Amino acid sequence: MPGSGLILAIESSCDETAAAVVERGARTLSSVVASQIATHARYGGVVPELASREHLRAVVPVVRAALAEAGVSLGDLDAIAVTSGPGLAGALLVGITYAKALAFASGLPLIAVNHLEGHIHAVLLNERSMPDGNISADTEPALALVVSGGHTHLYLATPADGSWHYSLIGRTLDDAAGEAFDKVAKLLGLGYPGGPWIDNLALHGNPKAVPFAFSRIKTKLHLAGRAPRTKAAKTAPIADLDPNFLFSFSGIKTAVLRYVELHNLRPEAESRREALFTGIDAPARPTIENALAQCEPQTLDLIASFQHAVVGDLLKKTFAAAESLGVRRILVTGGVAANRELRTRFTAESARRNVSVSFPTLALSTDNAAMIAAAAWPRFVAKEFASSELSADPSLALGR
Ligand code: KG4
Ligand code: ZN
Repeated sequence: MPGSGLILAIESSCDETAAAVVERGARTLSSVVASQIATHARYGGVVPELASREHLRAVVPVVRAALAEAGVSLGDLDAIAVTSGPGLAGALLVGITYAKALAFASGLPLIAVNHLEGHIHAVLLNERSMPDGNISADTEPALALVVSGGHTHLYLATPADGSWHYSLIGRTLDDAAGEAFDKVAKLLGLGYPGGPWIDNLALHGNPKAVPFAFSRIKTKLHLAGRAPRTKAAKTAPIADLDPNFLFSFSGIKTAVLRYVELHNLRPEAESRREALFTGIDAPARPTIENALAQCEPQTLDLIASFQHAVVGDLLKKTFAAAESLGVRRILVTGGVAANRELRTRFTAESARRNVSVSFPTLALSTDNAAMIAAAAWPRFVAKEFASSELSADPSLALGR
């Protein structure tokens, strides 16, 4: 049934194997995500070799489940889309190889999607699928904050001829915000990924107890025009970016560690939490109540203050960038966009400034394939197909 507008997308860039069927980048027929959290949790982070192995195991059943849930077969589709980067090389290759095989076997075109563009389209997909959908989803320029475990990037997203153009406005110089959540959670003996644990535990602490400060980024160090060493995607040289829109989250992790050491935050409580999360004492996944019972008030204050500081920094720089660009629409996306304090404070600030702010649904905030299918739709319309030579690009950049 060519012309059905149905795209099957596959996402395997990090630690979720996902497949989805989306119609015309707007209506999600299915979105299946197989998480590898249980595999990586005991190591406190993603182990690339294990990720590839888990993707290999999961990709066929996940794609089958996505087709079955959508009630379609390969013959009903218009195209196959796949994440080609950025991400873990071996993990990306699993999705790409399978997508290529499916495209070859079915004679369908293959569309390569940038994972970061996917995150931006998670919000647009959400807006398009609203009952009064499509009003501003594809017409108004937006400032997009992509804030995840691998990225903290600000893009100006401009719609043009049914497609989108992106220019990089700001980014982190070192750790991504989600990485800071994960590292702080790890040093406090909490589970992986750390963001959801910190999000929940922060509700029980005083966010003003520890005054963490973000110092102004000094760009002189980077003015040679070289991009700094970073695990994030290769992008424009730092010297081209306004220092007011640059982030740095490696310092706060050290500040948290120093606070723990200085205040001698009961090491035995930390190892009890660690035991809880590595499953030595608890074979089942711990609940928030379990974790809460192992956190003294001072630790809860520290957690709340850390989150408050990170969210405050993201908020300040994002709204400053929107104001400086004259943009009245902000999209916040990526795993950290699931954070409750972040959503509350961005929503309040946008009301105060009369700027709109949109988030994906919680399920679409973290990695999924529906966002990849949504981002593939304008490429399908423009007939921007990938060649059979398509390969993984672990440091693929978005925009200029
Ligand atoms: O987008 P994502 O699923 O994967 C990447 O592309 O990185 O984001 C995962 C990141 C992890 O660092 C995780 O700790 C963080 O998002 N995260 C959160 C929350 N849920 C996930 N961070 C803060 N609050 C949350 N509720
Ligand atoms: Zn992601």
